[in-house]
Amino acid sequence: MQSRPEMFDFEGISMTNFFTDNWEKLQNFQARPDDILIATYPKAGTTWVSYILDLLYFGNDDQERQTSKPIYSRIPCLEACFPEYSTVTGTEMADDLPTSPRLIKTHLPVQFVPKSFWEQNSRVVYVARNAKDNAVSYFHFDRMNMVQPEPGDWNSFIQKFMKGKNVFGPWYDHVSGWWEKKQTYSNLLYLFYEDLVEDTGREVERLSSFLGLSSSDEEREKITISVQFDAMKQNNMTNHVTVPFMDFKISPFMRKGKVGDWKCHFTVAQNEQFDEIYKQKMKKTTVRFRT
Ligand code: PPS
Repeated sequence: MQSRPEMFDFEGISMTNFFTDNWEKLQNFQARPDDILIATYPKAGTTWVSYILDLLYFGNDDQERQTSKPIYSRIPCLEACFPEYSTVTGTEMADDLPTSPRLIKTHLPVQFVPKSFWEQNSRVVYVARNAKDNAVSYFHFDRMNMVQPEPGDWNSFIQKFMKGKNVFGPWYDHVSGWWEKKQTYSNLLYLFYEDLVEDTGREVERLSSFLGLSSSDEEREKITISVQFDAMKQNNMTNHVTVPFMDFKISPFMRKGKVGDWKCHFTVAQNEQFDEIYKQKMKKTTVRFRT
C-alpha cells in the first residue's frame, strides 16, 4: 500500500494529486443536458443522495446494477484519479457510463466545475452538512482512508479545518460558493443533510419533483426504507466495504449517520473558538445551518 499523499495549494485550494493529476481532461469534460451532477463538500451526504437518485432512476428496472455494482462505480467521482487502484480516471468512467441520465459526483468547489455543465444547463444537486458534524465525519474519514493526508489528532485536525486546510479547501467557501451559484443558476437544488435526517421521505419527494420524475407514493416509500442508515450500512453496494484503501478496523465508512455527533468530539474551548471563527467566515453569506 502506498504512503499517504501530500497536500498542496492548488489555485488557492488544498488538494492532493489524486484530484489534480487529470486536470486538463477534467476541465474539458463534456457534460450533457440530461447529466445530473451531485456536488458536495466531502462527508456531507454524497453517498446517501447518490443512492436515492440511483434508486429513483434505476431502482425498478436494473436488478444487476443494484446487486453487483458498488455505488462508487455507478456514480463516478469526476475528479478522481487513483492510478494505483484503478486503470480508469473519473472522467473516463463518466464518459463510459451507459445510462441516461448519467449520475456523476464531485467534491469540487464551484469555481472548479467544468464549464460544460453550466453551458449544457445540466441539473445539479448540492448537499451541505453543518460544519461541526462535517468536520467530525471528515476527521474519521481521513483516519481510515489511506489516500487522504494524515489527519493528526482531533485537535490538530479541527485547527486545520478552521483554517480551511483540508482536501477540497475551506468548508466555509465551499457551502457559500455553491449557495451563491444557486441564486443565478436555477437548475440547482441545494439540500441539507439535517433535513434528510429529519424527514427522508420529504427530501426524496423534493428530489423527485426537482428532477421532474413521476414516482408513485409506494416507490418513494420503498426508496425511503432502502436508504435508511442501517440498511445502507448492511448493503455491501453502498457501505464501501470493497474499497481497498479504506481501513474499516480504524473507522467504518457508514460511521454514525447522526446530527449532533460533534458534541462527543468538541471540547468547550474548541467549540467557542469554532463559533468565533464561523461567525467571521460566514458573515457575508445567507446560508444557514442547523447543528
Ligand atoms: S464521501 O466520502 O465524501 O462521499 O462521504 P459522504 O457520503 O458525503 O458522507 C459520509 C457521511 O454520510 C453518512 N451517511 C448517512 N447518514 C445518515 N443516513 C444515511 N443513509 C447515510 N448514508 C451515509 C455517513 O455515515 C457519513 O457520516 P458520519 O457522520 O461519518 O457517520
